[in-house]
Amino acid sequence: MASASVSVLAILLLGVAAVASAQLSATFYDMSCPRALATIRSTVAAAVSRDPRMGASLLRLHFHDCFVQGCDASVLLADTANFRGEQGSFPNRGSLRGFDVVDGIKAQVEAVCPRTVSCADILAVAARDSVVALGGSPYTVLLGRRDSTTASLTLANSDLPAPSSDLATLIGSFSRKGLSTTDMVALSGAHTIGQVQCANFRSRIYGEPNLNSSYAASLRANCSQSGGDGNLAPLDATPNAFDNAYFGDLLAQRGLLHSDQQLFNGGSTDALVRAYASSAAQFGSDFAAAMVRMGSIGVLTGNQGEIRLSCSKVN
Ligand code: HEM
Repeated sequence: MASASVSVLAILLLGVAAVASAQLSATFYDMSCPRALATIRSTVAAAVSRDPRMGASLLRLHFHDCFVQGCDASVLLADTANFRGEQGSFPNRGSLRGFDVVDGIKAQVEAVCPRTVSCADILAVAARDSVVALGGSPYTVLLGRRDSTTASLTLANSDLPAPSSDLATLIGSFSRKGLSTTDMVALSGAHTIGQVQCANFRSRIYGEPNLNSSYAASLRANCSQSGGDGNLAPLDATPNAFDNAYFGDLLAQRGLLHSDQQLFNGGSTDALVRAYASSAAQFGSDFAAAMVRMGSIGVLTGNQGEIRLSCSKVN
């Protein structure tokens, strides 16, 4: 009897610990590092004004972090002689940018508050600050993530959606991360900024019928059927402005990736794409809410993981 109630108590306590550790908070650094957020913001603003595309690249880093074993900065761990991380995975290799900017932010933050602010939180805040630097609406980022001591090349290859995905596949891959179809469409609106390499849209511009023909012709000029894999094209009409032009492009059959146009191709998400194309405010608020949910995927908190001293390697 006594031992039964002890184990009931233990289970209850474990449950409380699990709930507590799953909690992030907007005020997490208010006491321990009151200058953290301003430090990140000014470094991001400087990087984006030097290179506007960097805003897109930092936003994408947070997404590629969260979808692979949770928002734990695993994506930042660089390969070494005896460690292969996520950077060499198919979706990331030759494509992710911004690692140097993140290292610069971390150095600034370490200078004001040593061993306090995680790389995973830096990615979440830098993503928000990038959106804002490019004209998007501000939103509150929840904080308190800790950094992993591991990464997964296998999960990076399996869990990040491919640009060849159809709508059902996209819905499924977000749903496996606890995100709704609305979240998936809103988050895809991140493609309102940034650039894509020819290799990722070649099959679309040489053969897909649901693509505006004059747009396709202009893309073919800088993306031939063979060669020039790395040639860049903007993801929407205004690649340095965080607006809702992406959704207007989808209505005009000008989605650059196959996966983009899947959101408006006669299926269940057409109505939402129309709504976001006509209301920047609705897109902005759904995007912010979805970013907060994405930013909570699989987080390490409390005593889990560590606060890395350098984002590219474990302590
Ligand atoms: C819905 C499934 C998605 C697919 C299939 C997808 C795929 C891609 C691909 C193939 C690229 C171009 C990479 C290159 O050519 O180097 C790209 C770029 C980008 N993606 Fe996505 N993505 C998706 C969702 C997201 C989400 C949820 C976000 C952020 C919340 C995001 C943010 C970005 C940004 C900002 C860029 C441009 C990056 C830059 O210019 O450096 N994507 N995406």
